[in-house]
Amino acid sequence: MPKKSKPKTKFQAPRGMRDILPEEQVYWERVRQVIKNMARAYGFERLDTPILEQTDLFIKGTGPATDIVEKEMYNLRTKGGDKLTLRPEFTPAVMRAYLENGLSSLPHPVKLYTSGPIFRYERPQKGRYRQSWQANFEIIGQQDPVLDAQLIQLFFSISKELFLKNLIVQINSIGCSNCRPIYRKKLVSFYKNRKKEICATCQGRLQQNPLRLLDCQESRCRRIAQEAPQIIDNLCNDCHNHFRNVLEFLDEIAIPYILNPHLVRGLDYYTKTVFEICPEGEAGRQISLAGGGRYDNLIKLLGGKDTPAVGFAIGLDRIVDLLKTKNIKITPRTRPLIFVVQLGDLAKRKSLKLFEEIRRAGLETASSFSRNTIKAQLKTANKLKARFALILGQKEALDETIIIKDMVSGIQETIPLIKVIKGLKKRLKSH
Ligand code: HAM
Repeated sequence: MPKKSKPKTKFQAPRGMRDILPEEQVYWERVRQVIKNMARAYGFERLDTPILEQTDLFIKGTGPATDIVEKEMYNLRTKGGDKLTLRPEFTPAVMRAYLENGLSSLPHPVKLYTSGPIFRYERPQKGRYRQSWQANFEIIGQQDPVLDAQLIQLFFSISKELFLKNLIVQINSIGCSNCRPIYRKKLVSFYKNRKKEICATCQGRLQQNPLRLLDCQESRCRRIAQEAPQIIDNLCNDCHNHFRNVLEFLDEIAIPYILNPHLVRGLDYYTKTVFEICPEGEAGRQISLAGGGRYDNLIKLLGGKDTPAVGFAIGLDRIVDLLKTKNIKITPRTRPLIFVVQLGDLAKRKSLKLFEEIRRAGLETASSFSRNTIKAQLKTANKLKARFALILGQKEALDETIIIKDMVSGIQETIPLIKVIKGLKKRLKSH
């Protein structure tokens, strides 16, 4: 789509937020439809949560020392004094809903899928918006590594349906509450000797969240991270076996992945498997299409029973952006379109009813009743690539007949108005 220069208007959308215009909706609809169908096929049930949640939920759930909580949340205080936050991600909200609504008493695993906007006060750039859309999948209540792999498979099934190719998983394990503290100590002592060489942000992270030192994008920090001890060599037996199993499952279903020992993810709740999925060649450039991992401690942290879980989220904006840059054509309509053309007062009145009858018969229909010439209406029908036009002129309206025009061959036939639905269905069948 050519970039149009926007006229300067008095009001603009907030920085980092944008309108999704009618011409783009075809992409969004397709992406949402594919995700919805796939969610159902993989046994997920839909959940919707409020856009606002208590601020403390994210502080506790996402983690106080994460970029999201420290810098990116849209916080507000209500007139009643409640501290609320526009959700910057779904996972803590889904866990809150799971606990609050007694979903924990359902047979496990509980598989939930949600979709909607998230808000992060980030520096806007290509693929990074302050309001973006996610589809989020969570499987609650099971430890089995097959589920970690199955979530990745789910993403690949979605991308295949959307004709997106050359995607790759970056994967790592960041251990559990047994092995991670030991590794963290090793990491801190390694970095203490190199403190002067790392960036100021990382110097702060050394205290708060040392694992994040590994995924800093500054070139000097990246160089040092190459020499740092790797968590993969410091996993306990349980985490080691879990990770090996996940990789074996991925091999089994031929999903392409690379081990990225520096992938730690920017959210505090992860344990064991973490992964991101990117277009090949763009790994490490922080434009993942999807990301997730296991989080076996979060539910307990939020006040529930000790319950393992795993999940991931897809960035819909980035999927749509990729479909556009890869020039993947999305045909807006799969069903043939019937366009109703009318001329004269009586015909216009009858057309209103006719339009409704066609729609109720399960056919896709369109019209431009406000145009008064047949020529202008047929032009619109052409533009919309209608398969048949139904023309109801003054004569036809009086005779109770109608013209069916085949928009491909141009052939026109007049038939009794009463037989129009049958006539259309017969023609659509034989074409
Ligand atoms: P996340 O990696 O922060 O994970 O986000 C998942 C995906 O959302 C990213 O891979 C990206 O495609 C998209 N995304 C995130 N922020 C933006 C942004 N500012 N602009 C455009 N797209 C964005 C989570 O949110 C976790 N809650 C995922 C999860 C679910 N983990 C376990 N369960």
